[in-house]
Amino acid sequence: HALPELLCRMPKAELHIHIEGSLEPELIFSLAERNRLQLPYPTIEALRAAYAFTDLQSFLDIYYAGASVLQTEEDFFDMAWAYLLRAKADNVVHAEIFFDPQTHTARGIPFVTIINGLDRAIQQARKELGISAALILCFLRHLTEDDAFTVLEEALPFRDKFIGIGLDSGEKGNPPEKFSKVFARCRELELRLVAHAGEEGTAEYIWHALDLLQAERIDHGVHCLDDPQLVTRLVQQQIPLTVCPLSNVKLCVFPTLAAHNIARLLACGIRATINSDDPAYFGGYLNQNYLETFVALPELGAAEAYRLARNSFEASFVDVEVKAGWI
Ligand code: HPA
Ligand code: ZN
Repeated sequence: HALPELLCRMPKAELHIHIEGSLEPELIFSLAERNRLQLPYPTIEALRAAYAFTDLQSFLDIYYAGASVLQTEEDFFDMAWAYLLRAKADNVVHAEIFFDPQTHTARGIPFVTIINGLDRAIQQARKELGISAALILCFLRHLTEDDAFTVLEEALPFRDKFIGIGLDSGEKGNPPEKFSKVFARCRELELRLVAHAGEEGTAEYIWHALDLLQAERIDHGVHCLDDPQLVTRLVQQQIPLTVCPLSNVKLCVFPTLAAHNIARLLACGIRATINSDDPAYFGGYLNQNYLETFVALPELGAAEAYRLARNSFEASFVDVEVKAGWI
């Protein structure tokens, strides 16, 4: 059939992937063995069986536990390299990759260990796979703004190894305004700014991510349709949304893929993109997200496939000349 082949074979960018969320159970077990760590699950199957989430927080608990096997630069390299190989297989030509340094620095892992491992995989992917990739450092919003300033200080000696700043972790009760000062500082440093908003949070969180954090892209953002004035703004300013359909179903943001609003977002003229979020936990990498979404929503066809791929490049942070070559 032509449509699945188009979805799989068309070149695309991935703009919402947490590298710690690409850690497959097999790699968690092999890293635990290499680092002589005891896991609270006896087998790979038992760990995978625990991936039954009821909301964002029930996922985050297991996701942070999984990330605790990462200790050495080699571990961070191996995780990122595995993702980049997988991305290559899905015809991803450019990836903007989130990482959560506070998940690791809080366990005593130095920032340099994290960034050097991830950066080495990205450099190798550029040379050997022909993929371009860049890192976006995310602040954990369940921690304080002071904690965010601390990790920013630790990161600044490596300013050339990441392009931007994001905001992730538990949304409810941790509104954008909690991080307005540190985002203002990052803006002065000419870092690109994005934020998770409107995944579990309300449309108001999207307004505040735009107006108080000056976010250039909204991660998830699916609750924007609750607010017609917000939709008008997103369309007029062509603010990209990095939507993650399989994630949204696994975390019960939508009951089924058939109930997902991605087709409506596109029909409204919003610059929506499709992404995998945490592919090792949510049942699929990028092409799987495209394939399952297009099966569940028959109003999506070839025109929407091209639109989504084009949106992914337009929404990316690459130089305009590079973008022009892709679009
Ligand atoms: N939302 C918030 N924080 C996250 C997510 C997400 O989907 N994935 C990893 N950290
Ligand atoms: Zn996310």
